Amino acid sequence: MSVNLCLTDKARYLRLYFPAAHTPRAVRKGAYDFYNKPIDSDTLALLVDRAYYLHELEEENRRLQRSQKHTPLQGLITAAPEMLKVCQFVEKVAPTDVTVLLLGESGTGKELLARAVHDLSNRANAPFSAINCAAIPENLLESELFGHEKGAFTGAVKQTKGKIELADSGTLFLDEIGDVPLALQVKLLRFLQERVVERVGGRKQIDVDVRIVCATNQNLEDLMAAGSFREDLYYRISELVVNIPKLADRRGDPELLAHAFVGQFSQQQGRNIRGFSGEALSALAQHDWPGNVRELENRVKRAVIMSDGALVTPEDLDLAEPEDIPDILNLAQAREEAERREIPRALARVDGNITKAAKLLGISRPTLYDLLRHHNIDVD
Ligand SMILES: Nc1ncnc2c1ncn2[C@@H]1O[C@H](COP(=O)(O)OP(=O)(O)OP(=O)(O)O)[C@@H](O)[C@H]1O
Ligand SMILES: [Mg+2]
Repeated sequence: MSVNLCLTDKARYLRLYFPAAHTPRAVRKGAYDFYNKPIDSDTLALLVDRAYYLHELEEENRRLQRSQKHTPLQGLITAAPEMLKVCQFVEKVAPTDVTVLLLGESGTGKELLARAVHDLSNRANAPFSAINCAAIPENLLESELFGHEKGAFTGAVKQTKGKIELADSGTLFLDEIGDVPLALQVKLLRFLQERVVERVGGRKQIDVDVRIVCATNQNLEDLMAAGSFREDLYYRISELVVNIPKLADRRGDPELLAHAFVGQFSQQQGRNIRGFSGEALSALAQHDWPGNVRELENRVKRAVIMSDGALVTPEDLDLAEPEDIPDILNLAQAREEAERREIPRALARVDGNITKAAKLLGISRPTLYDLLRHHNIDVD
């Protein structure tokens, strides 16, 4: 049996389920809480208060979800000005044929943006061919990129086109370009200059028309200084550079993305998770996100599996309990605190000279005398 208690005249309901044996299932199905009979009115009042509190959190969660700005970039969620700027930049450069270099830490969305560049270009109906230069052993990378003729090496049983050729008339995404070995960088540069490929073991020069997008999480300037990345190649690929901010620098995005992911994963898993507890929201905001959006995605996926209730907790996310955020000082308190701190510092700097200290503090001498009296500060 379930009992609905109307909380407000706007028909918000607190659902209480009985009997106790079904309570965990009821909570999983979306009940705010459960309570065993016999009913004690004080405890029930507490329960109702808590339901209100949870309801407010849900409202906050929903508000965050609504604040999601829809960027025209497929699948990309952000409301942070720092990232919206990047999206606008990508939208502008996408329809051109310029080579784009995407720079960002691991998990910041480089691949997502590379696909956006393609999707928003007039090559969108042609292939998008991606190659992760860090994931392929050095001896195979050349044939992966340029293809090979039958019999070019042991195991080359048939003629095979490389990723560059496969991208013809579309976009070639060279992911982790910083990991291309030096010897291959020379070949890549030649291709970028002449736009022709020669398959491994072949002699024919094949024209290829591709738009190039590159990405790396490495610092290419450091690599150039260390001699492991060619400067001429760098200038070729960096016609337009997009610096993708790390997640911790995108204000409000960790919470926003977490909401989007929780909705997506709980639907996939058939769970009825409504959002995040207040502590979880603070923990999301305080975490450093070294693995950026990918880390967030993984933590939320884990939380959806681990969560026992309707709201995700910091524990479900495997995040530390948030530190207490200091209370906001009202401005009068803040001013008092600043006076108590800055007046002695100013006096110390000018050897107790009242005229100079007042000047330094931007106040008149009489005001400084008043403040010294008020704060009981001894000039000596
Ligand atoms: N702004 C975003 N909105 C929604 N999903 C995102 C966003 N940014 C990244 N993702 C998702 O996060 C994951 C990591 O993104 P992506 O693979 O594009 O990052 P990356 O920078 O290429 O990472 P890596 O350096 O590890 O290859 C993907 O599942 C992607 O869909
Ligand atoms: Mg990537």
